[in-house]
Amino acid sequence: MLYSEKVMDHFQNPRNLGKMENADGIGEVGNAKCGDIMKMYIKVEDGIITDVKFNTFGCGSAIATSSMATELVKGKPITEAVKLTNQAVVEALDGLPTQKIHCSVLAEEAIKAAVKDYYDRNGICYDEKDLAP
Ligand code: FES
Ligand code: FES
Repeated sequence: MLYSEKVMDHFQNPRNLGKMENADGIGEVGNAKCGDIMKMYIKVEDGIITDVKFNTFGCGSAIATSSMATELVKGKPITEAVKLTNQAVVEALDGLPTQKIHCSVLAEEAIKAAVKDYYDRNGICYDEKDLAP
């Protein structure tokens, strides 16, 4: 079996898929390896990510990892959400085939880009290295 049950589940029933009106932060990133694109929207209240949505033109693994990533950051403080790594997302999905690991990077980068956008819009200072992919 190439893909875990969790990957198949998140691919077939992606959580938090779609656009968000009035997002507080939007991150758009491209995958240097395959050229695929990912967009992440966040809603923030009192430093907590209260809602998150994603849209991607990426493959099934990109969909599954983003779906899992949105579940992992929803309801979390921003400071914790930006620490989410693609390895943690892959682990939460019970693994991904090696040649698909690059797809999981999109979700992590998109979340960080959305947070950066939120910080920029609100004039909040941050350390670049905290938001580096
Ligand atoms: Fe680029 Fe999967 S979408 S190879
Ligand atoms: Fe491009 Fe998966 S995101 S191959």
